[in-house]
Amino acid sequence: MRGVILAGGTGSRLRPLTTIINKHLLPVGKYPMIHYSIKKMKEAGILDVLLVTGKQSAGLYTEYLGSGSQWGMNITYAIQEQAGGIAEALGLAARYIGQGEKFVLLLGDNLFHDSLQPYMADFAKQTDGAMVLLKEVSDPRRYGVPVLQDKRIAFIEEKPSNPKSSYCVTGIYFYDSEVFQLVTSCKPSRRGELEITDVNNAYAKAGKLTYRMLQNWWVDAGTHESLYQAAAHIRKEES
Ligand code: G1P
Repeated sequence: MRGVILAGGTGSRLRPLTTIINKHLLPVGKYPMIHYSIKKMKEAGILDVLLVTGKQSAGLYTEYLGSGSQWGMNITYAIQEQAGGIAEALGLAARYIGQGEKFVLLLGDNLFHDSLQPYMADFAKQTDGAMVLLKEVSDPRRYGVPVLQDKRIAFIEEKPSNPKSSYCVTGIYFYDSEVFQLVTSCKPSRRGELEITDVNNAYAKAGKLTYRMLQNWWVDAGTHESLYQAAAHIRKEES
């Protein structure tokens, strides 16, 4: 299985830190944030990775990660010209992922303990469709919130004011290659972006969106507070 990591966006909730540096290059523990996504891929045996980022920071990523050969990996780069949403960035991977191929998508600001390996193994057994990883959180209103129906997700509400469950859809996704057609038929949301939740809901509507629960800690390090939390978890693991 190949992997795609998204490391673009404006990082608006982390300003002023992100005024001069892309969010995924900010330090967490001993390394820049992007290091941990690469490490998760490598540990799960995913050695071919596409990194999608904006043109302003691309040079810093290539300087840090290079071709990936220092980790025995092949890292390829794609440039998102403007921050047009997670689904738009994912669309840039269409030429990287082959027809009929399944892959893992990671949002580069999602830091977590679990290995991707068992989830990949489960998804490899799934005939088609998509799978997402969920985590119980204290404030689901910040995230995509799933409505569960047995072993599937019936619907996801993006940042709802009255969440229907205490789970959030994390930025760890498993897709079949049909996802690229779904991205193409996606329409910009009110904030003018192609939303990953719309793509996931297309799978949900077709009864093809399954889920698993993450077992250990998980943080979306997109705010100052959560960046501290992520650093605290990582620090414990690195000491
Ligand atoms: C994005 C997704 C959201 C998901 C979250 C996980 O939100 O839109 O559904 O729960 O990532 O990190 P964002 O952090 O871009 O607001």
